[in-house]
Amino acid sequence: MPERYLIRGGTPLRGEITVSGSKNAALYAVSAVLLTAEPITLRNVPRIADIAEMCEILRAVGTEVREEDGGETLHFHTPVLTSVAPPPDLVTKLRASFLVMGALLGRAREAECPPPGGDVIGSRPLDVHFVGFRALGAQVERRGPSFRATAPKLHGARVFFDYPSVLGTVNVMFAAALAEGTTVIINAAPEPEVEMAADMLVAMGAKIRGQGTPMLEIEGVPTLHGADFSIIPDRLEAGTYLLAACATRGDLRVTNAVPGHMDSLIAKLREMGMEVDAEGGGGIRAACTGDLRAVHVQAVPYPGFATDLHPPMAAALTQAAGVSLVHERVYDNRTLYVNELRKLGARIIIGGDSVIIEGPARLAGSTVRALDIRAGAAVVVAALAAEGETAIHDIGHLDRGYADLQARLTSLGADIERV
Ligand code: EPU
Repeated sequence: MPERYLIRGGTPLRGEITVSGSKNAALYAVSAVLLTAEPITLRNVPRIADIAEMCEILRAVGTEVREEDGGETLHFHTPVLTSVAPPPDLVTKLRASFLVMGALLGRAREAECPPPGGDVIGSRPLDVHFVGFRALGAQVERRGPSFRATAPKLHGARVFFDYPSVLGTVNVMFAAALAEGTTVIINAAPEPEVEMAADMLVAMGAKIRGQGTPMLEIEGVPTLHGADFSIIPDRLEAGTYLLAACATRGDLRVTNAVPGHMDSLIAKLREMGMEVDAEGGGGIRAACTGDLRAVHVQAVPYPGFATDLHPPMAAALTQAAGVSLVHERVYDNRTLYVNELRKLGARIIIGGDSVIIEGPARLAGSTVRALDIRAGAAVVVAALAAEGETAIHDIGHLDRGYADLQARLTSLGADIERV
């Protein structure tokens, strides 16, 4: 039988944790490695399945990858690219794999990749990536199941994105970093993970201004050099644990969380009645000292409330008094978790792009599935708040995004077993 988690809920989470390096930022950093022939060291890398998959893709195009500190430090070296077409079976395992397209286009002026994999959370087009590549002078065409991009010359350009796509911004930034001339991306994604990817390129010798804003300016350079770079803490992992503390009426400090990356969640936790201390320089502490109140949330691009925290937020809102509403404005299929929460006794329905939750509901243990990474986070949060035992199946999704989940929750007083 495949592995599953057994959670016996009802205990408030209390204590302190240090979250891992950001999953998504680390995936962008690992892809950026391909832009240079010199060695790169990445520190504070999360020990999760998605990073291992991404390293496999790099190995397949010629990168030597060496682990240290149990995988928290990774050393990379790609003196020569041995292929510009990573194996499709690896690329289709995760979404971020498509970043090799921009990186290979930048370094080798050609790349071939099938459409990437990733969670089934809605239609996830790639038009923004291609608009950017084409504006820089690349030809992009379909070759069998793959996309092929070639560019004898890449030149800077002013590019407007219809939508501030996160991976689209990183992909086009990668190619632009090694183009001739200056590229300006208008309506770029300002997410902290994208900002960090730009900072890493700067550490490798790129000339970039405006990272963390919707106007990203990249002045191309002929080559990039090696770097030693540390991944930022994972705001989504930190947010998930804070929401678990909220749902269980606990008291949790996330020591290394960056409050400046988490304003939207902090505001909503306070509105729900949590006491949140994010000013003291000690990360973020959230404590439940009274009843929780219902709130309205809109999941939108950064700095709005993160769509990746929508499912665990909805799980926490099952414990808040009144009618809460989560309006999803990023993905059109983010709500797979709703049926799973219902199995635990949540009073939750889908109405158009919104999820409506009536609370507080007495949750009771049941058998549920982790349908994608964040849907998995939702059932974990709800199971921790439920009376009795919950069996969570398909936990491979949680392994993709949450390092040492069992050990961390256990250290906070949760009763969780992996069988
Ligand atoms: N979109 C377009 N055109 C495009 C690309 C995207 O319209 O060319 C739209 C999509 O339809 C979607 C929205 O943009 O509605 C968001 O897509 P985006 O491209 O910004 O997302 P992504 O880059 O594919 C990353 C994260 C996701 C996270 C989103 C939004 C990685 C590997 N993935 O995806 O993270 O939800 O940004 O913040 O970095 C997760 O960590 O669980 C996860 C799914």
